[in-house]
Amino acid sequence: MKEQLEAIRLAAEKGVSAALDEKQIEELRVKYLGKKGELTALLKQMGSLSPEERPKMGQLVNDAKAKVEALITERKAKLKEKATELKLKSETIDITLPEKATDVGGLHPLSIVTNDLIDIFQSMGFDVLDGPEVETDHYNFECLNVPEDHPARDMQDTFYLADKILLRTQTSAAQVRTMETRKPPIRIICPGRVFRADEVDATHSPVFHQLEGLVVDKGVTMCDLMGVLEQFAHEIYGDSVNVRFRPSFFPFTEPSVEVDVSCTECGGKGCRVCKGEGWIEILGAGMVHPNVLRSCGIDPDVYTGFAFGIGIDRITTTRYKISDIRLLFENDKRFLEQF
Ligand code: DAH
Repeated sequence: MKEQLEAIRLAAEKGVSAALDEKQIEELRVKYLGKKGELTALLKQMGSLSPEERPKMGQLVNDAKAKVEALITERKAKLKEKATELKLKSETIDITLPEKATDVGGLHPLSIVTNDLIDIFQSMGFDVLDGPEVETDHYNFECLNVPEDHPARDMQDTFYLADKILLRTQTSAAQVRTMETRKPPIRIICPGRVFRADEVDATHSPVFHQLEGLVVDKGVTMCDLMGVLEQFAHEIYGDSVNVRFRPSFFPFTEPSVEVDVSCTECGGKGCRVCKGEGWIEILGAGMVHPNVLRSCGIDPDVYTGFAFGIGIDRITTTRYKISDIRLLFENDKRFLEQF
């Protein structure tokens, strides 16, 4: 029986130290120490021994059981430790690795230019206002001295949403809304989107951007208009650029002018960009027509004013030498990433 015990103990020790995971250990525990285990079975055989031998043998079997049990506990702990170690190793984050590059968003070139324009006029004391994109015929045309039969009202130019409701064709609509709600002195700008039923090509888009300006006060003259707009042109294009005021016509201003700057591409010699002219038109302006002041309840005998409408898209394409306006609206990441 002693030899049997020794053989079982040796086999158990060998098995336990070779076990590779907790499942195997548990199987071994059952095999040797369980209710029907081999060591337990030995204890049951004690009845066949002499009374003197019984306690000795009992002691031996119990010792063996304790030994195997201790081994199992030890092996279990070791395996657990090993498993934890492996898990930690597999989950380790190498903080010395360089991080993956993430894309950082930027401002659209139109937003960059709009913000710059706002900065320039704010520094001259202008308030920034917002106007609705869906306008009425009243604000977009009627109060701006655009008569009923003016070609600008043609269905081909204007997107009508309903009778007398339209997508504003010019930010000038904001002028009237401002003069209705503010008393002079008025000094405001209103940047925003405008809409016209134009065919899309390199220089036309049905959606584009304008920045409207309006100044109304006592004693405002054409000199104020010229001073402000010349200053603006130099801030945008630099001091070396030449500024030219050219007589023009707008129904809501009298007199009216268009403002050109010397071509940013060729400096005025004439090139493809300025179509050989040497000049690039950047805005329309003029002294607010007395009819417009009157339609807003401002007495033209007391107050005068000037207004201007800057083409933001034009400023953007000339500043960044963008040859096709469509690039501004396609939002190709490769294009936008350059700004
Ligand atoms: N609204 C004009 C346009 O879309 C631009 C303009 C011209 C605005 C003269 C003005 C102005 O305020 O005084 O072509």
